[in-house]
Amino acid sequence: MQTNLRGKDLISTQDWSKEELDTLFDVAFDLKRKRALNQPHAYLRDKVLAMLFFYSSTRTRASFESGMAQLGGHAQFIESRTTQISHGDTAKEIGEILGRYTDGLAIRKSDWGEEGQKYLREVAEASRVPVLNMQCDYYHPFQILADMMTIMEKKGDPRGLTINVSYAYASSYLKPMSVPQSLILLMTRYGMNVRLTRPPEFKLMPDIVEQAKENAKKSRGSFEILDDFDAGMKGADVVYAKSWGCMLTTEDNDEAFEIGKKYTDWITDEKRMATASDGAIYMHCLPADRNIEVTDGVIDGEQSVVYDEAENRLHAQKAAMALTMA
Ligand code: CP
Repeated sequence: MQTNLRGKDLISTQDWSKEELDTLFDVAFDLKRKRALNQPHAYLRDKVLAMLFFYSSTRTRASFESGMAQLGGHAQFIESRTTQISHGDTAKEIGEILGRYTDGLAIRKSDWGEEGQKYLREVAEASRVPVLNMQCDYYHPFQILADMMTIMEKKGDPRGLTINVSYAYASSYLKPMSVPQSLILLMTRYGMNVRLTRPPEFKLMPDIVEQAKENAKKSRGSFEILDDFDAGMKGADVVYAKSWGCMLTTEDNDEAFEIGKKYTDWITDEKRMATASDGAIYMHCLPADRNIEVTDGVIDGEQSVVYDEAENRLHAQKAAMALTMA
């Protein structure tokens, strides 16, 4: 267990050692137990978290805000359009100034490109308090920490389990790549057999794929890339199939939607789930395009753990805040 995490940013899980991540999970399960038992756990009394959103959210906002209240502190919801950022407040100024008012800065800036990632790093450089990544263009670390908690709860030790991180078709909008990228980065740290299943146009960032391969080598897990939706499902213990945009193939949104239409049959349905391992679980970070990415029968079915997964956002985030902002 690592006891010196005060002030540490959490922008990517790659920035935390395995022992630090293990500490976070340990604290998260403890906080979950305490909430279930209605035991007070106000570890952040009088502390303030600024939550700066450049993009909409249901789960992330609600879980961070509830988490801070349960820890005895306060969360400020700041919608970027209501600030002076568009009139000139720089990343450095946001880090310097909000860092002096608060005890932690959480930021969501998830448009396509490098901008979100760079912005978080610039704010962190200037800030005297920890910066927590509520999703950028590269990473969604708190989603994936909650996902790992859920796998541990439902399946036990993740070592040796096979997870299929798969593309699925969606028509609603071009979803970011941050979830599959963070999934392959964290699940390979824990000795899982990670399958990345995607059509050829839906590649993830090469540098992140390389890091996942390295992680798998170190953890004695495995990492493979498939381009056949059905092959990815076969024998998987964890099915995590969701959409993302093919932004590395084209930056033209119309073209990206057209390419996606070639893969409308990449939908998780009961027939596909039946080919996964006995006791396989279905995961999705939500929101999902129902009956396009996944059938109602699967997402509402017995194998689905999506609501426990969403709940675990609360516990994982409280652990990170309690460890870094105390
Ligand atoms: N999964 C997730 O991050 O949900 P929101 O976009 O609603 O926060």
